[in-house]
Amino acid sequence: MITRRKVLTNIALGSALGGSSIANYLPFALSPISAQANLNQLNIPPQYEGEDVDKQKQFNLFLQKGTQSFFPNSKTSTLGINGNYLGPTLRFQRGDTVKLNVDNRIGESTSLHWHGFHLPPTMDGGPHQSIANNTVWSPEFEVVQFSGTYWYHSHMEGKSGEQVYRGLAGMIIVDDADENLDLPNTYAVDDIPLIVQDRRFTDDFSFAYLNTYEDSVMGQHGDVVLVNGTLNPVFLAATKFVRFRLLNASNARNYNFTFEDQRLFSQISSDGGLLEAPVSLRSLELAPAERADIVVQFNPGEEINLISQAMAPGFPVFPGAMSEMMRTLYSETLNILTIQTNSQLEVNSELPAQLNSIYKLPEAAATNTRQFLLSMGYGMRSGNDRGPGTGSRNGNGGGHGGGNFSINGRRMDMDFINERIKLNTLEVWELANNSPMMHPFHIHNGQFQLLDRNRQPPPANELGWKDTVTVGSGERVRIIMRFTDYINERNPYMYHCHILEHEDRGMMGQFIIEE
Ligand code: C2O
Ligand code: CU
Ligand code: CU
Repeated sequence: MITRRKVLTNIALGSALGGSSIANYLPFALSPISAQANLNQLNIPPQYEGEDVDKQKQFNLFLQKGTQSFFPNSKTSTLGINGNYLGPTLRFQRGDTVKLNVDNRIGESTSLHWHGFHLPPTMDGGPHQSIANNTVWSPEFEVVQFSGTYWYHSHMEGKSGEQVYRGLAGMIIVDDADENLDLPNTYAVDDIPLIVQDRRFTDDFSFAYLNTYEDSVMGQHGDVVLVNGTLNPVFLAATKFVRFRLLNASNARNYNFTFEDQRLFSQISSDGGLLEAPVSLRSLELAPAERADIVVQFNPGEEINLISQAMAPGFPVFPGAMSEMMRTLYSETLNILTIQTNSQLEVNSELPAQLNSIYKLPEAAATNTRQFLLSMGYGMRSGNDRGPGTGSRNGNGGGHGGGNFSINGRRMDMDFINERIKLNTLEVWELANNSPMMHPFHIHNGQFQLLDRNRQPPPANELGWKDTVTVGSGERVRIIMRFTDYINERNPYMYHCHILEHEDRGMMGQFIIEE
């Protein structure tokens, strides 16, 4: 279905590929913006819809080294996909078969994972599908996901954190031709990807990765926020309603998205597609890998900041340094994006009251329940040990809750299958966390639903399809998922904490779907 908006977008983007001026993107005349020397126009990744080859949509992705000027007069060594930092927004149609030619030229092995997708395990791009330097990996799969916001990123064994940090990630938007909702859908105009990442730089503007003890234990945090790779970004809105596709692509940081004036906004989707109805919120917390599309209403001629507001630390006080480190982190307020609006705004859509109807997976039909306990160990920190995997005790250091990242007491082992699941079954997974910090738990091969959180019904914005769910310290979260279509006795799927430094250090396991 080609809509007027889509045509406009394509025209606008045709001239904008590689360009940096926002004027190229907007088919509207913009009023001049107030001069703010330190703001940079929000970079919008180009869309990539693929080429038609043999009834497939084919995408050519080059993983490459690059340099990017995040700060004026500076150069940072980066990794990117078809560019210097991050990758294009891949646009998939539900029902299409896609083929992705992933050409690795980064000088070391990597992998590229399609996060949120139901697909055969050999096409998944997890740690078992590593791509040697200077080779091409060409997975193909049918897109069965609902319309929504997904992503792709490095999943290299032991190196996901570092490679994503350097830039190997991008957004995927799935469209559904049968969907007929009047939602903002003009990419780069009123439908805006926001890939939110925190970074820390050294004095010479290189990425600083794992240079503090806290980063090893709590995951890599940064003191600078980049949105789509843009520092201090400003977005110029020309429409009354704007849809932001929020993707927390940070290694470890949570964001508590809020508009500075505390205005209400509507969350319309979760990880795996539209919610049943918009959920009205003043703030929205997203953990690493979680996505949410929100629709915000603007007034003409205003300037407003989207911020990450300080969070109430929802965790108990544990002995040791960790509670303190977390309190400090959670007390930070960060600017995410400045939005400046036109003096006149096009009235582009009204938010529908009903968005979707979601089939509720019936708990009574579940044939198995599994338990997963997320732990961080209880070793004492030794002299020079900067955290798990770095000190002489290799993984046992780190103070209370500082090492031994594990699930059910086991660290990830590429040669060990943790769980075997019967094809075409529905299962309940009970997730528990006895560590002092939250872990975002992610399962490969599709989407699940929340049954309850601490025996309470999930909040309205967690009632849709999810592939990543936060499990707070001491929490117990029950989810339900079905396992269909792809039997493979040899090739497992992953489940893991999506704090990438935790994943890389062992908070991951593998499951096989069998007859
Ligand atoms: Cu987004 Cu296993 O990853
Ligand atoms: Cu995934
Ligand atoms: Cu974790």
